[in-house]
Amino acid sequence: MCGIIGYVGSRAAVPILVEGLKRLEYRGYDSSGVALVGSGGLSIAKAAGRISALEQVIDLDAPQSLGIGHTRWATHGAPTDINAHPHADSSGRIAVIHNGIIENDRALRTYLERKGVVFTSETDTEVLAQLIGQLYDGDLEQAVREALREITGTYGMAVVCADEPNVIVAARQGSPLIVGVGKNEHILASDAAAILAHTTQVVFLGDGQMARITPDDLKLTTLDAMPVANDVEKIEWSLDEIELAGYDHFMKKEIHEQPASLETCLRGRVDTREGVVHLGGLVDCARDLVRAKRIILTGCGTAWHAALVGEYLFEELVRVPTEVEYASEFRYRNPIIDDGTVVIAVSQSGETADTLAALKEANQRGALTLGVVNVVGSTLARATDAGVYLHVGPEIGVASTKAFTGQVTVLALIACYLGRRKHMSPAAASQFIDALEKIPEQVAAILAQADKAEVVAEAYCKKDNWLYLGRGNNYPVALEGALKLKEISYIHAEGLPAAEMKHGPIALITEAMPVVVIATAGSQYQKIMNNISEVRTRGGRVIAIATEGDREIAKIAEHVLYVPDTIEPLQPLLTSIPLQLIAYHAAVLRGCNVDKPRNLAKSVTVE
Ligand code: G6P
Repeated sequence: MCGIIGYVGSRAAVPILVEGLKRLEYRGYDSSGVALVGSGGLSIAKAAGRISALEQVIDLDAPQSLGIGHTRWATHGAPTDINAHPHADSSGRIAVIHNGIIENDRALRTYLERKGVVFTSETDTEVLAQLIGQLYDGDLEQAVREALREITGTYGMAVVCADEPNVIVAARQGSPLIVGVGKNEHILASDAAAILAHTTQVVFLGDGQMARITPDDLKLTTLDAMPVANDVEKIEWSLDEIELAGYDHFMKKEIHEQPASLETCLRGRVDTREGVVHLGGLVDCARDLVRAKRIILTGCGTAWHAALVGEYLFEELVRVPTEVEYASEFRYRNPIIDDGTVVIAVSQSGETADTLAALKEANQRGALTLGVVNVVGSTLARATDAGVYLHVGPEIGVASTKAFTGQVTVLALIACYLGRRKHMSPAAASQFIDALEKIPEQVAAILAQADKAEVVAEAYCKKDNWLYLGRGNNYPVALEGALKLKEISYIHAEGLPAAEMKHGPIALITEAMPVVVIATAGSQYQKIMNNISEVRTRGGRVIAIATEGDREIAKIAEHVLYVPDTIEPLQPLLTSIPLQLIAYHAAVLRGCNVDKPRNLAKSVTVE
């Protein structure tokens, strides 16, 4: 959702802003705009729709070397040209872009209207622009500081003023901002992807911090004007990782990156010979973790599915009662947090509003909190007591793929790390780690047969209703497979624990309905074979995900996609791959916008 880019330096700002906005497109947006400041004053251009619409209304050769740009995902007011950011004050000298939500905007709007301010848009952001305009008295930083004292809510914001053509003022409260440090230039952004083409040296703004940015100076303060000194950090992501590199879509690229991304995720963390997992991020709280009496895993969307896989892993390996909660439910249900409760928040972006709110609730109630997060330096990573990064590289496609397998891998590592400290023998841990280390090459073997998943997608992509069934560790995979299909191909799909089918959904099964059944070798194999028979009896078409070498299943399933054998707790890392491929190909065949599905955002930063 919403993206921020800002440039101040010696180069022309427009190409940098437009390129930055394009890098932020993946987050989801419905309008965009830029504001430029130069000797001629302040100019603003904005347009509803795609960035290509903005390119029609801006001067691409504009000489100004200071500007801010924004992609908006509408919350307050429809996605129109007028409601797009930047918003100016009535004097037309100050322009603001803003991510987040200003909660007291109604009261402030009324207050400003009484003072004679006439608003042009329906947005909460214009309130901020008008307020700063009212308070401006020759010092932009000071006016922003005073305005923010009046604001409640969340923001990542940037402001420019016609009278200060060398300065961007930015502030953060709950919505990320990063400043890229270049040679005589600074690039401000809400997401590292917009900065990487220029520099990997960045400063992360913390909550409650402000930045005054000029070409050769970056001054950081708290909202109360106390100086702060954040370190310059290096972003480990490379530009290649955020480009298509010959693939048709980011989703396809990210699916195919999984052997490498999982290898990176495991690197340096496992020792098969000793049966030991090393997780530097947990060292300081290992003793408390081992004493945990209860574990709550929380997240949203695909991260919630990864958490469900984690529940099976934790209960099996750590033998501690584990629950999984939707972050959106956890935050409002007066959760019971006892001494010894550990809350683990799972998130790709580390910026999902509901997950952050759940984490805040857990922190306030005294839980030990861990993050399982991909984006280094994200809000969630900063707000937990400890954590483990996924290290799977940037994920651009809206439908999460490599982050899911990364999340499951990290949860498996944490489960083994704790299990080994409790009751797992070195031999059992070695066996588990050995299986985990084989996963990347096994994923590569599945991807080598991606065409088989394409055949399945071709056969059924015109069907508007699908079922996904799984049992045990593979039940969350059924949910994830169904989510992948519906979010990018707009086919209605439901995922179920296979036995639940009989309690209602079986009524949906008709002649030729595709039913994807995860039927890999293991303790529940016979049970799932019975479920397949139940589907077949009613004319459903079974697409089975089975273990290599299973000849029986080919006799009763319409299609079989084979995966290599692994231990049951790790099967989701393999069985999820064919389901990602089916969803991808079905979406392509239906002509859908795979990487930017309608109505969805990569990172849902509002409730
Ligand atoms: C959005 C995305 C999903 C993602 C979910 C949680 O809904 O479309 O793909 O799983 O947010 O995101 P997070 O960044 O917290 O993992």
